[in-house]
Amino acid sequence: MTYWDERYRSTEARERSWTEDAPLDSLTVLDALGLEPNDPVIDVGGGASPLVDALLARGFVDLTVLDVAARALAEARARLEDPALASRVEWIVADVTSWTPVRTYRVWHDRAVFHFLVDEASRLAYRRCLDAATSTGSTVVLATFAPDGPETCSGLPVRRWSADDLERELGDAFTVVRRERREHVTPWGSRQPFTWVVAVRR
Ligand SMILES: C[S@@+](CC[C@H](N)C(=O)[O-])C[C@H]1O[C@@H](n2cnc3c(N)ncnc32)[C@H](O)[C@@H]1O
Repeated sequence: MTYWDERYRSTEARERSWTEDAPLDSLTVLDALGLEPNDPVIDVGGGASPLVDALLARGFVDLTVLDVAARALAEARARLEDPALASRVEWIVADVTSWTPVRTYRVWHDRAVFHFLVDEASRLAYRRCLDAATSTGSTVVLATFAPDGPETCSGLPVRRWSADDLERELGDAFTVVRRERREHVTPWGSRQPFTWVVAVRR
């Protein structure tokens, strides 16, 4: 069992800082992309996020949720009342830093995962995966803790990012088309500043 499986096993959703009743920030960003329902979307480190429910409700038919914690995906899957809907989603249990994508996606969405990669080697591995899972025109949505955000999450250290830093990290292969600061409010009312960056692969 991974560290993250244990986190999901030992907590209720309301005890997890990242829980949100509705993924409003993600939907605001994704809705603005003008996607078609058959555009492939992957939620990297999606965990038990309700984003997949919201995208299914919008009619998306090619959804993938990847997470290192099987337990989180089981939780999300069980929440989808209609088994036919759950079976429409590809659920992948994998570590994004060692996963080998076998296809590309129109959208790569990562809320609160990249900031856990505090060493250069894991960020390079993530980048290899991102490059393999996207092609020209693909959009990457990255949401990380902002420079004044928390220094840890779920007992783990994080690296905090400004939009400029994320833009530099993505490099010339991506054009940043949107950048903003948004505050997530945890289930117990703490405010967590996030940096959101949307970039299109050249
Ligand atoms: C802070 S939670 C965010 C979950 C979800 N993105 C959301 O917004 O609700 C971080 C998630 O990333 C997953 N995770 C952490 N490291 C990962 C890795 N290397 N590969 C895949 N998933 C990872 C965890 O299991 C957890 O579900």
